[in-house]
Amino acid sequence: MTTPAIETILTEDRRYPPPEDFAAQANAQPDIYERSFDEFWETEGRERLSWFEPFTQLYEWKPPYAKWFLGGKTNVTYNCVDRHVERGLGDKVAYHWEGEPEGERRDVTFAELQRETTRLANALKTLGVGKGTAVGIYMGMVPEAAIAMLACARIGAPHTVVFGGFSADSLSDRLHDMECEVLITQDEAWRRGTTVPLKRTADEALREAPSVRSVVVLRRTGNDVPMTEGRDFWWHELVEGEPDDPASCPCEPMDSEDLLYLLYTSGTTAKPKGIAHTTAGYLCGVATTHHYIFDVEPDSVYWCAADIGWVTGHSYIVYGPLCNGTTGVLYEGTPDFPDKDRWWEIVERYEVDILYTAPTAIRAHMKWGHEHAEKHDLSSLRLLGSVGEPINPEAWEWYRRHIGGGRTPVVDTWWQTETGMIMISPLPGITTTKPGSATKPFPGVDAAVYDESGNEVGPGGGGYLVLRRPWPAMLRGIYKDDERYAETYWSKYGDVYFAGDGARIDEDGDFWLLGRVDDVMNVSGHRISTIEVESALVDHPRVAEAAVCGRNDAQTGQAIVAYVTLKGGEDGSVEMLEELRNHVARKIGPIAKPANIVFTPELPKTRSGKIMRRLLRDVAEQRTLGDTTTLADPGVVEEIRDRAAAEATEE
Ligand code: WT7
Repeated sequence: MTTPAIETILTEDRRYPPPEDFAAQANAQPDIYERSFDEFWETEGRERLSWFEPFTQLYEWKPPYAKWFLGGKTNVTYNCVDRHVERGLGDKVAYHWEGEPEGERRDVTFAELQRETTRLANALKTLGVGKGTAVGIYMGMVPEAAIAMLACARIGAPHTVVFGGFSADSLSDRLHDMECEVLITQDEAWRRGTTVPLKRTADEALREAPSVRSVVVLRRTGNDVPMTEGRDFWWHELVEGEPDDPASCPCEPMDSEDLLYLLYTSGTTAKPKGIAHTTAGYLCGVATTHHYIFDVEPDSVYWCAADIGWVTGHSYIVYGPLCNGTTGVLYEGTPDFPDKDRWWEIVERYEVDILYTAPTAIRAHMKWGHEHAEKHDLSSLRLLGSVGEPINPEAWEWYRRHIGGGRTPVVDTWWQTETGMIMISPLPGITTTKPGSATKPFPGVDAAVYDESGNEVGPGGGGYLVLRRPWPAMLRGIYKDDERYAETYWSKYGDVYFAGDGARIDEDGDFWLLGRVDDVMNVSGHRISTIEVESALVDHPRVAEAAVCGRNDAQTGQAIVAYVTLKGGEDGSVEMLEELRNHVARKIGPIAKPANIVFTPELPKTRSGKIMRRLLRDVAEQRTLGDTTTLADPGVVEEIRDRAAAEATEE
């Protein structure tokens, strides 16, 4: 018998069938799984989007490149904004915007979105921006960030949004790589009661990004920022006098395959990859998944609490929801400002019915305690979603119970910057969910688990997640790097997309995501995924968060090291350490018992909230730290390193 690529050690028996009333009204009914691949995407493509010229061919697949909706002409902003106004929905709210400073609120209707987008698009034209001109966007969570993206799409200018928490170096790398000619930014952003100097950081970045000719600066905090004469323009001055009538700036007819945006994602090397997304396939993919998975209704108030700077924000704050004409919430600040109940206050105020967030945020709320949610009426919530990392079953349970009142379905959605759209997820009116499982591939998606040599792994097996057929929102390549595109995603199994994640399939055919393949540990020849050991730790009532990695061990190949944060900021003890090791042994078996446990108040995370196990491995092996530039808070690893060293000397 060959050793499986990844073994299954954690079992989870809880099951939640969809509530009957939810199932009866759901957008997705069981027959959706009977639709054929071609019919499904053909119909969604024709009916969900409005076309200037209809497409003549559904897709073309010349591995590793796909094209979708060939021959079609459309415009993303037309679909997301103009057509809703034309259908009489101009007064519908597109975004309830909530500023971080208390009391700052603004409702932006679809009609306003159309006017603002048109005005900015006209202004961008005066700066020489036209079809094909690359534009960088470096902003916080303000409505103008979405307006900037839509203004670019209106005139066919591809954008790259750079997350507002990124440094000058990260910004200049991206602007330089895409050869952006214009940058749209703001004076400063609000974050936890202080200001983030976006314009100053942009100025620093621009020294290394000579392609940028003009800078548009939104006034947000109103504090003084340096402006360079001839290069920098205030947004409000630039749009002054520009017409806001949509006919003054018609939506540019774009080919289905014209570039909509690049979004840079970091890989194993320092150079970020410019993931390319095009027009029609992307829009169809995000709008279709948004409609069925989040079960949006015409009067829904949907809140995706991600940042616009990540793909989640692109696909599920801006393009998917707007294409479906959905009312959304856009919140500028952090979840704990001024208090830890800020999110729940927002849910109550706007009567949010759909909330979509990340496991890292759910675990932070768990750590703070459910009493903050209890202060608010969350009965409007109908559906909860999770994305970004595998969700520990206990965090899933907590989310459903304390936020969803024990009634809402929870959809754990697996996807990537590269996939553009959700690929594996429950459909909330159909799927019996299991805490920790993303369950089934979306209709029209062909996902499977392969072993090392490319054989499909059946129910009960573990291995590598692959996608066997192209999908509309798939990346069209890595900008200016065909070789890296082929090498990263298509070299392991030939014409099958290798996602880089471990996964297992259970007896019901449900998928369980096991984290990045690089994170898998090998203990005495057993290939164990970090997420299962982490979930066993988080299952202990006093543990808020845990990260696990392997370190070299002369005897077992690798030994498991765990980094644990206790609830309520509690300190660890020798007794607690033993208790946790035994808890893991009981929950999943002695093989997974951590050799060491380091207690720490925080875990090292990327700015998007993913735990960086690579750095924890460096700490565990007492190596110099690798690249730390993507860390949200570099101080955290230093602290962990000190604690790990202290623990080593105590032994
Ligand atoms: C990686 C992609 C997708 C939008 C945000 C992240 C991990 C994402 C899940 C999930 C388990 C997940 C994977 C994936 N991931 N969602 N529901 N369960 N893992 O986009 O930064 O491109 O990251 O995030 O490892 O490959 P991204």
